[in-house]
Amino acid sequence: MTDWNNRYLSGDTPWEKGAPAPPLLELLGKTGDDIWGGGTILVPGCGTGHDVRALASKGQGVLGLDLAQQAVEKARSFPAVGNEEYALGDFFDPEWQEGKSFSAIWEHTCYCAIHPTRRPDYAEATAALVEPGGHLIGVFFLTPNKPGEEDQGPPFSSDIEELDARFDPWFYRVDSWVPERAYPGREGQEWLAIYRRK
Ligand SMILES: C[S@@+](CC[C@H](N)C(=O)[O-])C[C@H]1O[C@@H](n2cnc3c(N)ncnc32)[C@H](O)[C@@H]1O
Repeated sequence: MTDWNNRYLSGDTPWEKGAPAPPLLELLGKTGDDIWGGGTILVPGCGTGHDVRALASKGQGVLGLDLAQQAVEKARSFPAVGNEEYALGDFFDPEWQEGKSFSAIWEHTCYCAIHPTRRPDYAEATAALVEPGGHLIGVFFLTPNKPGEEDQGPPFSSDIEELDARFDPWFYRVDSWVPERAYPGREGQEWLAIYRRK
């Protein structure tokens, strides 16, 4: 299993781009506030919090969660842009989930980072944490490998059929598209999906 804190300590963080996910900026530019709801947005596996701050800049409460202390400390070192907070914790931990509810979850490079054997836990965590009618909104890194390369992640690959089936017990997909904007090198490899909590 990946030692995420150590990856931050040793600077082995190729996912760290110093800026929010371009598909999130694209999404914020084209959608209203409806999909985010009126409550707090959760960003699991937020890393150093670039997406958290992009979401907070639109004036909504945002909680970034990460299990790597180094990431959370770095995230907290940035000047606040709005109503954002960071928590050190494990998304899969029922004790952390206890009593919490969010109007939306923003997913970006957390799903592909966890081992595929934990994906059922990821889906159950989203189901436990998103309020009915709320949304799981994610940019999924479907194809991180070069053609013919084995899936030795993280990041681990996924596909649309798998994702739809994974979330189907609790969510239905209301929209999706291949984002036009991407970090250099990730063009065409991601898929943005909006799932509504049943
Ligand atoms: C590939 S990094 C992506 C970080 C951030 N989303 C970004 O793009 O910069 C995956 C992140 O998920 C965090 N993570 C992995 N498993 C987690 C879990 N069960 N609960 C909370 N965070 C987790 C890691 O510590 C790491 O910061």
